Formats: sequence, structure tokens, C-alpha cells
Amino acid sequence: MEKIIEENKQGESLVLEQKPQNTKKLFIESYGCAMNFSDSEIVASILAENGFNTTQILEEADLVLVNTCSIRDKAEQTVRKRLEKYNAVKREVNPKMKVGVLGCMAERLKDKFLEEEKIVDLVVGPDAYKDLPNLLRVVESGRDAINVILSKEETYGDISPVRLMSNGVSALVSITRGCDNMCTFCVVPFTRGRERSREPQSIMKEIQDLWDNGFKEITLLGQNVDSYLWYGSGLKKDFEKASNMQKATAVDFDQLLEMVAVGFPKMRVRFSTSNPQDMHLSVLEVIAKHDNICNHIHLPVQSGSNRILKEMNRLHTREEYMTLIDNIKRVIPDCSITQDMIAGFPTETEEDHQDTLSLMEYVKYSFGYMYAYSERPGTLAGRKMDDDVTEPTKLRRLQEIVDLQRQHSAIRTSEFVGKTVEVLIEKESKKSDQDWSGRNSQSITVVFPKEHYNIGEFVNVEIMSCTSGTLIGKAIGHSDMN
Ligand code: SF4
Ligand code: F3S
Repeated sequence: MEKIIEENKQGESLVLEQKPQNTKKLFIESYGCAMNFSDSEIVASILAENGFNTTQILEEADLVLVNTCSIRDKAEQTVRKRLEKYNAVKREVNPKMKVGVLGCMAERLKDKFLEEEKIVDLVVGPDAYKDLPNLLRVVESGRDAINVILSKEETYGDISPVRLMSNGVSALVSITRGCDNMCTFCVVPFTRGRERSREPQSIMKEIQDLWDNGFKEITLLGQNVDSYLWYGSGLKKDFEKASNMQKATAVDFDQLLEMVAVGFPKMRVRFSTSNPQDMHLSVLEVIAKHDNICNHIHLPVQSGSNRILKEMNRLHTREEYMTLIDNIKRVIPDCSITQDMIAGFPTETEEDHQDTLSLMEYVKYSFGYMYAYSERPGTLAGRKMDDDVTEPTKLRRLQEIVDLQRQHSAIRTSEFVGKTVEVLIEKESKKSDQDWSGRNSQSITVVFPKEHYNIGEFVNVEIMSCTSGTLIGKAIGHSDMN
């Protein structure tokens, strides 16, 4: 240990022990959802304590980690391609490089990964990242290492993430892990385990650290944020067994959201993802009450057909979803609503598909994430249902959904023309180095000339025109949020 001497505010000399400088280089890349990106920041933090600094240069890495997604076959193929690339670098440039696979694909394939991909030295599932230092010692000794044990407790609440690729303005803060919903098409309950919530004080502390470091926006993250519940333990399924005292003092999502909004009034608060059956009127009221909670709800529905929703084991009907939409529009009139949609789920007929289109017409989403059904091994749909909608039909239906969404996005963005919106400046516009890019409360991208404004500032922007996905305007001054 090296010793360094510092003075405190009272002028007293303090002797601090400093950890040896990190000497090894970690190259980490992430695929899939925000949860994976957030987890990679936890991994970087764990490894920073164990001698690794991150690098953006693959060729110089001592350790390469890829945080993987299993949601669709295409996502897995992308990772396989990246492994080929690492293999080439290891062969031609850096023979000592070690390669590890993290995340959902690691959890799904387990030791098969080590058999199928010779380049892989290390396989670690989403709940086992604290074991990485031990696993790396095994790898250093020349053996392959694996830990894919799912936990009922782990939330990484005690780890301060290293903000990778951060713009220094917005950050992800994970509040729940896992999912108990068992939608029949979805691999997540198998790769992420049981749903558990993180202790509220550790969430508040992480946000305080972000605020102290100049961050202006956080996204509370989980597979199912609306079912957040802390009662002294985080495991949702055991709540019924909790004592009366624990039940009386439990913190649910409405309360957590309010705690964050009140505790950090100059910080913007977003959250994702919501599940229709868990989102209640009370959370809408909290959003409406606090200006710093953004007016955007990502509300995946996957299909507009009651029959398909049932086949998917989605725990709500089309009518219940529409009632929720009505409530959102009533309680938060300028709220943007966005979707996830699957085209061509097993047994989907033309009529079911038309139900999806008509639901879209009803809601007129601001934007969405739309995919053709991809069968996932191990899921109920994968085991019990025939993937019987032909590929051309799936693709044609998907195109119709995408085209309709494009029309609705254009309608939604055009509603802002002539209005003034508050924007948090996040980065330079991709199209011009003369313009800033940020988002309004509804999560729609806004670009405008830089003038004297800076990244991390809230500005009021008058919207002059738009495309289907972007608002174009001119800043007219700082907003009250600064
Ligand atoms: Fe998957 Fe359904 Fe859970 Fe979402 S709610 S993560 S789709 S099982
Ligand atoms: Fe993919 Fe796992 Fe997220 S399957 S979408 S990375 S939870």
C-alpha cells in the first residue's frame, strides 16, 4: 500500500492509504436492455477494486467482457459474431487476452458456452458478478470458470457503479431485478430470476452521489418497476409472509417515486419498464403531482388481441389496458405513451393482427419497439406452441405495425410545433456540431442551435418544426430546473 498525505478542512494532516494503481485493462461491451448497461457499470466497479481500468481499445485489453442478451435469436447471433471478432484479435494481436461472457445469454447457455465457443474463458450470470474476482483467479490459473447461480437477494445495492459511456448528465439506477410474471414468450424470468427490490436508502444514496457529481436526470430501472416493494426484504413473492409491522412500513413504487422526486427536486426522474397490470391510478397521481417526474410512460402491451394476450400470459385484457390508457390521458394529459409490440406470435390470425393495429389507433403511441416473434428455447411458448405464423406473414404484419407507428409518431411530434418545451441538454446533435440534442419531458429528442448553452443545462426551447422522431427548435432561455 502506498501512503499519501492530505490536509482536511481544519488544516490537519491526514495519512491516507491508497490502493495500488490499477494496471490491467478491461474492455466491456453491452447488448440488450438498459438493465445490462446498468449491470456493466456494476461489473466495472467490482473490477476497478481488483486492478482493472476500462479501455475503449479492444486490442489492448487484458480482459474482454461481453454482457449479452437472449431476448431474440438475433441478439444472440450478434454476440456470436462479436466472439469471432475477439477470437481474431486474440489470434493476431493479443494472445494473452481473456474473454468472458456475462448476462442473459450466459445464464441461458451456462457451460454450453464453454463447449460451443472455445474463445470463452469465463461465464458469469447476472446475479454472480461479485464472484468475478474469484473467477478471474481461476482463469489466471489456466482453467475456465463459471458461476450462473441465480440469487433471491442480490441487488448490488452496496456497489457504486462506474459510469461507463456516460454523458455526465443522465444515469440509470436499478431498483428491482428479476421478474415473476412468466409471459410465455419471454426468457427474462429464466435468465434474471425472481423479482426482488432494492433497499430504498441505497437507492437514495446512489442518487445523492449522482447529484453530487453533477448528474441531472435518473432513470429508475427494473423489469417491472411498478411492482417495486421493500418491506425489510426485497423478495416480492414472500411479502404475504411478512409481519404486520413490515407490511405497515413497506415502501411501494408510488412511495419510492415520491421520495426521489421530493428528495431531488432539481433532478429529472424517469422510470422503465412498467407492466400494465401493476400500474395503478396512484402512480399516475404521483407523476402528475411532481414537475420533475417526466411525463412519459413506457407501457408494453405486445398485442391488441385478447386471445393472444391470454396465450402470452399477459395478466390483463385489451379493455383493461385501454382503461389504463384513458386514465393516463385524463390524469396526465400531455403524457407520452410508448409501446413494445410482437408481430406473429404463435396462432396469431389476421383478425388478431387487426386488433393490434386498432389498439395502436386508439392509443397513438409516441414511439415503440416492434419485433417479429422469435421463439426462445425453454420458454413456455418455445416448449408448448408451434411457431406457426410463416416468416413472410410475420414480416408483413411487422411492417404494417411499423408503418402505422411512424404515422402516429409524426402526429405526436407535430403536436409540439409552436409550443415551448423544457429540454435537458445531453450531447451534440449527430447531424450538426452547431446544434445540441436533448429530450423533453415526453422523451422526444429535441435539437436546437447551441448558442451559449451547455451540456447539463435545462433550457426552454420553442419548437418550430419536426420530423416523425425529432423536434427542431430554438432555445429561448434557461428553465427553472437549473
Ligand atoms: Fe418478460 Fe413479461 Fe417479465 Fe416483461 S413482464 S420481463 S415480458 S416475463
Ligand atoms: Fe435481453 Fe436480458 Fe435485458 S434477455 S432484454 S438483456 S433482461
